Amino acid sequence: MMKLGVLGVGDLTEKMVRGLRRSGSDITIILSPRNRDRAYGLARDLSCELRESNQAVADASDVLLIGVRPGQLEELAREVSLRPGQPLISVVIGVPVSDLQRLFGARDCSRAMLSAASEINRSTVAVFPAESIAARLLAPLGNVVRLATERDFELATVGACINGWLYFLIHELQQWFCDKGFPPERAKDLVLSSIEDCTAYSRYQTSLSTGEIGASIAIPGTFTAQGMEVLTQLRANAAWRAACDRVFEQLIAKQG
Ligand SMILES: NC(=O)c1ccc[n+]([C@@H]2O[C@H](COP(=O)([O-])OP(=O)(O)OC[C@H]3O[C@@H](n4cnc5c(N)ncnc54)[C@H](OP(=O)(O)O)[C@@H]3O)[C@@H](O)[C@H]2O)c1
Repeated sequence: MMKLGVLGVGDLTEKMVRGLRRSGSDITIILSPRNRDRAYGLARDLSCELRESNQAVADASDVLLIGVRPGQLEELAREVSLRPGQPLISVVIGVPVSDLQRLFGARDCSRAMLSAASEINRSTVAVFPAESIAARLLAPLGNVVRLATERDFELATVGACINGWLYFLIHELQQWFCDKGFPPERAKDLVLSSIEDCTAYSRYQTSLSTGEIGASIAIPGTFTAQGMEVLTQLRANAAWRAACDRVFEQLIAKQG
């Protein structure tokens, strides 16, 4: 039975553990002790094991999942010494494989980028390298996107940020309906349903691009077209592009 050690039990790794168990995975999951309440709760509720130190987690595990924040990685690396050849999967944003190998030693290092929807097995699971242990182990958490280069992986990381921004956009639209008098639940249902409908139809219409579908709806003279004019005047789409550029430039700069 595979033993997965988790170094850094936080928001994302908790959701990943929940998703793995939700998928029926019965691999052994061994948790680091920091953030004790969270780790203890997971161990108790989801049949995970807890160890007294990061080193004890590493010693007991076949594969390690690193889930600390970028600024906490150096400290973590000072606290553990991994076995030669012990594979490592990192979900730490913006830290390339070369840095992971510098910090943890030359070994099989793979990277993964996921979203909160890992918890319900519906995340995008971006992985690099394409044929990595991360791709196999994390497949139950959602839609695996295998990236052949680290640059492509950073592009997929921008996708993970877009996922976060979309929550704010959805909230803003929902709030507009509430301001006009809709109760929050109805506003939420309407906006989410509209987005789900759009996603489903875009996937169904394989012969049309999403731009073409949009253009077929926002034909001149329609209310949709009027709204699009406002969005274009206010450079709404340009703002999204600028946000993507800002994140991507920083991620690429870290690759050196
Ligand atoms: N949250 C997301 O949806 C998301 C999405 C994509 C990627 N990520 C990436 O996932 C990583 C974690 O993000 P997060 O939001 O889950 O952060 P988080 O909730 O702060 O989780 C990090 C956890 O690691 C613990 N930790 C820090 N140093 C440690 C050490 N030396 N040994 C053991 N545990 C240690 C932290 O404890 P303390 O609280 O005591 O510091 C915390 O419990 C980040 O690198 C982020 O870029 C997150």
